[in-house]
Order: sequence, then structure tokens, then C-alpha cells
Amino acid sequence: MGLSSYKDANDLSYTSSSPDSAQAFCELTTAYMGFRRETGAILKGLLESDPDMPMALCAKGYFAKLMGSSNHSARAARTSEDLNGHLARIDANEREKQHAAALSSWCDGDLEKTTRIWEDILLQHPTDGLALRLAHFTHFYSGNGRQMRDSLARVLPLWSEDHPDYGFLLGMYAFGLEESGEYAKAEEYGRAAVARNPQDAWSVHSIAHVLEMTERHEEGIAWVAGLEKDWSTVNNFRFHLYWHKCLYHLERGEFDLVLKIYDEQVASDIASDFYLDICNCSSLLWRLEMFGIDVGDRWSDLSSVAQKHLGDKDLIFVSLHYLMALVANGDRAAAQQLQDGLRDWSGLDGTQARICADVGLAIADGLQSACDGDFATAVARMEPVRYSLNRIGGSAAQRDVFMMIMLDAAKASHDALKARALFADRLGDKVHSSWTWKNYSSILETMGRTDEAARALEKSRKALAR
Ligand SMILES: [Fe+2]
Repeated sequence: MGLSSYKDANDLSYTSSSPDSAQAFCELTTAYMGFRRETGAILKGLLESDPDMPMALCAKGYFAKLMGSSNHSARAARTSEDLNGHLARIDANEREKQHAAALSSWCDGDLEKTTRIWEDILLQHPTDGLALRLAHFTHFYSGNGRQMRDSLARVLPLWSEDHPDYGFLLGMYAFGLEESGEYAKAEEYGRAAVARNPQDAWSVHSIAHVLEMTERHEEGIAWVAGLEKDWSTVNNFRFHLYWHKCLYHLERGEFDLVLKIYDEQVASDIASDFYLDICNCSSLLWRLEMFGIDVGDRWSDLSSVAQKHLGDKDLIFVSLHYLMALVANGDRAAAQQLQDGLRDWSGLDGTQARICADVGLAIADGLQSACDGDFATAVARMEPVRYSLNRIGGSAAQRDVFMMIMLDAAKASHDALKARALFADRLGDKVHSSWTWKNYSSILETMGRTDEAARALEKSRKALAR
């Protein structure tokens, strides 16, 4: 079949064998932005019907990279090579060449360059939803909320409010605002997005984050539960929304409910080996243990999945969650292997390799030390990187588990002066955190500050009863 240039409904040109392929790519982008379960099937159909369409090949590589593991990355690198060879033989347009260059640099581990290419595409083609959503992803895994926010702000005025995907943009903007600490504005945009499309899980999620960060736990439960029939239609991302629901329940001391949601939802598909599932699970089990809850043998299944990723060099945020499962389950040899891999990685080139060296190794050492009962070392390793923790990516709510681990270790280390200070500074943000007040109270008690300890304990009880 001969290749020609066709435009889709967004006025983007595609080199393809039929105009239907350009339109199918448009549907693929919409499905991707909506976390639709049929996304993979749409791409598969497109690759079958139009195997020479450069953007279909490029999407194949992108989607493999989005899986965040070394196996998939190796596949993405092969696709990238095929695509570059294909582009040398055909007459593709500039935007397609830019996308192919972005995939190449992503496979090379240069996330800054990759993101810059997508942002460059958006200057000329602001309606390229794929470039926009992918830049959102890499901004997210660079831990820079303001870049997420501004990336959306740059294109929003150029999109028609009547565009069927416009709601996705509002939700992405809401999330960028939330991660920039602009909670009121984030809520406004996030709610507008969900009003347009309650199945838009990312937008529902942006409000879940606002409610988490502003400690509106009861409202958070109602928000997530109230829209469950809509967002639960999406792919495994839905388990992350259940994870958010668990965070609210944790703060309310509803531990049986957290374990029930963990078993029935959050951990229900870990066998599929999707990285976000393991992040949700490791983070939740560790939090439960810090709240004093026995999680039984639940670490064991997580550890089995983590063992498949001992040499991963993709996202340090994800590797740290694999390590959590290994150290918590007492799998010393595997944990050592993963940590050796992190040390190798930190000596390589690439964006995540640098973050691994600058921040990741310290957190990894801290996790291992905390598990070994060497709490003073855990604090000594983690405290120097606390203000650069955002560099590992993920959301503020997700990264909070590492801060909690550092605080928990500070308390266990019996360095009451340090522990009191760290818990007090957390209370600046978490005014209604029963866990934080309770720990603060017990530290004050050990310092002989009995009256203050009693007042802090009362605040912990009040936080639970909110
Ligand atoms: Fe989240």
C-alpha cells in the first residue's frame, strides 16, 4: 500500500496508507488520555491495518516505554530502531520525525531532551494530544509540578472548549496546579473536567490529590466512592484511585477497611506486573506497618513481582518501591542485587541515572537501614536528600511515604531532639494527621514534656474523629 499524507480532526498530518488511519490515531490518543482498556487493542488494530504508518510504530515504542520496566524498554528500543530505519526510506513529515527523535532519546535515557522535543512539537502543533500527555508523564516523573502546570497552560488557550478531549486537558492542568500547591485553582479545573466526563480517571484523581493534600479525608472518601462506577471502567490506573481511598481511611484509623480494599482492589492484579500496582501496594503496606498494623504475609506476593525487576534501570521511583517489597519481606540477597544495580545505574549517563546517584541511593540505603533496625543510619542517609526528594518523580502524596519512613526511623533511633523537630515540621503541613500527632505526643512524653504530650495526644484523637 502506498503512503500519503492525511489530516485528522485535529488538523495534524499523518503519513499513512489511508485517511482512516489518521482518524484511528486520533481515537488512540483519546483512549490513551482516558486510560481506556481498549487502548492497546486500538494500537494493535492500527499496526495490523497500516503497518507502515510511522506514528503507529512510534506509539508502539512510546507505549512500551510507558510500562516503566527494562523488558519493555528493550522492546521500545527495537521499535525505535525499526522506526528510524523506516523513516530513512519514506517521506515523513517534520512532526513525525520529531516524535521518532523523542522516542530515540527516551530510549537513550535522556528525559530532558525527550520532553523538550515534545514541548517543541506543541509550539507548532498545540493540538498534538499525544505529545502533550507524554510530556505530562515525563514532567511527572521529573517531580516538577510547575512544569506539568505550565505545559498545559501554554496550550489550553489554543484548544476549543468544544473539543471532545478538552476535559482531559482541564484535568491535566488541575493535576499540575495541585502538584504546584495551588489547591483551590486545581479543584476548580479538576471539578470542571469531571463534570464534562466522570469517566476521566486522571481528572477524578486530580481532585483526590487536592483532598489528600488539604486533609479533607471524609470528603475524599465520598468523592472517590461517589464516582467509582465511572472511573472503575478504566485500566489498572483504577487501582491507584483505590490507593487514594485507602490513604483517607488510614488517617481515620479505619485499618480493617484499608486491608479489605487492599486485598479486593489495590493488590488484586499484581500478577500482571504493572509497575504502578506495585508502587501502590508497597507504599500502602509500609504505611500500614508504620501505623502499627500487622499486614500478615502480604509482602510475599509483592516481593515475587519485585524479583523480576532487580536490574531495572528505568524509573528510580519505581525501583525504590520494588526495593521496599524486598527489604520488608526479608529477601536480603535480592535486595542486595537490586541495590548493586542501583549503584551501577548511578554511574551511567541519563536523567534517571543522575537522580539515582543524587537521591535514589540515599533513599535505598535508608530503607534497608530502617528494615535492619539501624534507625540512626536510616535518618542520616535520608535527611540530606529530603528537600530534593521531588527529583525522584511521582506525586507529593506518593513521595510522602519516604518522609514518613524517615520520621519513623528518627523516633525509633531515640534521638528525641531530632525526632521532635522532624514531627513538628510535618505538623506544619499535616495539621489533621492523627499518626503525626500521636508520634509527636509519644516523643514529647520521652522528653518529660508531659503536658504538651497530653495536648498532642488529644489532637491525635480529634484528628481521628474528624
Ligand atoms: Fe495519585
